[in-house]
Amino acid sequence: MATDLRVSLTDLCSLRCTYCMPAEGLDWLTKAQRLSDDEFLRLAALFVKLGVTSVRLTGGEPLVHPTLPEVVGRLAALDPRPEISLTTNGVTLTRSAARLAEAGLDRINVSVDTLNPARFAELTRRDRLSEVLDGVAAAAGAGLNPVKINSVLVRGSNLDEAPDLLAWTLRSGFRLRFIEHMPLDADHTWSREDMVTAEEILAIVEAAGYVVQPVGQRGSAPAEEFEIVDGPDRASWAAETGRLGIIASITRPFCRDCDRLRLTADGQLRTCLFAQSETDLRGPLRNGATDDDLAAIIIAAVAGKQAGHGIGEDGFVQPERSMSAIGG
Ligand code: 5AD
Ligand code: SF4
Repeated sequence: MATDLRVSLTDLCSLRCTYCMPAEGLDWLTKAQRLSDDEFLRLAALFVKLGVTSVRLTGGEPLVHPTLPEVVGRLAALDPRPEISLTTNGVTLTRSAARLAEAGLDRINVSVDTLNPARFAELTRRDRLSEVLDGVAAAAGAGLNPVKINSVLVRGSNLDEAPDLLAWTLRSGFRLRFIEHMPLDADHTWSREDMVTAEEILAIVEAAGYVVQPVGQRGSAPAEEFEIVDGPDRASWAAETGRLGIIASITRPFCRDCDRLRLTADGQLRTCLFAQSETDLRGPLRNGATDDDLAAIIIAAVAGKQAGHGIGEDGFVQPERSMSAIGG
């Protein structure tokens, strides 16, 4: 059984990142289509019984979900208690970081692609960088350490900022992870030639004067971890050495070790980000299925998890749902 469940609580988002969504947003799910908190919690409890040990809340943007702290509290009350983490864009995080930590949130990932306000406004189509940076600080202040920062580098936009992002995280004691751009954008603009690869990112970081050493085996974790043992700004670092992660889903796929499952906001189980099919849990749930019925459906779906994403192979088709509708 897969052990890591990612739950997209809502497909709504407070930003409109160009690599993710069109400016006008998407056709959002209706309230009736979305699972209620009770429905989510019933499924989460079942997944935990089946062996899931870690639940990550994503979106869209999970902070848009009005009862997020309650959802975290209810997850923390499950037996056995899963580890609970959140992937967020950080907008409005200042307001809820402390409450989320108190409710039982264990870890947080905040997406920050640029530290330049004008570029942030261009990239996300919203002028909210200062709010996001305050939110990151609030998360650290609430004890959600080490705060992880996710960045997607896009050629012709923020690629030149890779060293600045690294310097900022080293100084602040955050953990940076660069994510290779995946073909999951609603506009279908992804191209392999344009994508910034892990190899290129490492070369840029090293060219900026950082000394980078790979750390051990990544196991089922998607990020390859590197230790930063020296760099031009070492005197300003928060710790003796720093960390950098690179999630190279495209050039160094980790499908074989992947133990993730994804539950969409409308109650569909996906066993891969790039799967062409999903398993409906909402229908049975609303039609009176027992926990045993649902468990049987989940176990069958997980047994059919595909062996690899197949990007770059003949016949690869980008899934219909975009990242924000699957959950990252
Ligand atoms: N490829 C890679 N990462 C993406 N994200 C959103 N869309 C894509 C994509 N097409 C990132 C966000 C966030 C995380 C949930 O996924 O920037 O950090
Ligand atoms: Fe940006 Fe994430 Fe929202 Fe997509 S879901 S628009 S990547 S913040």
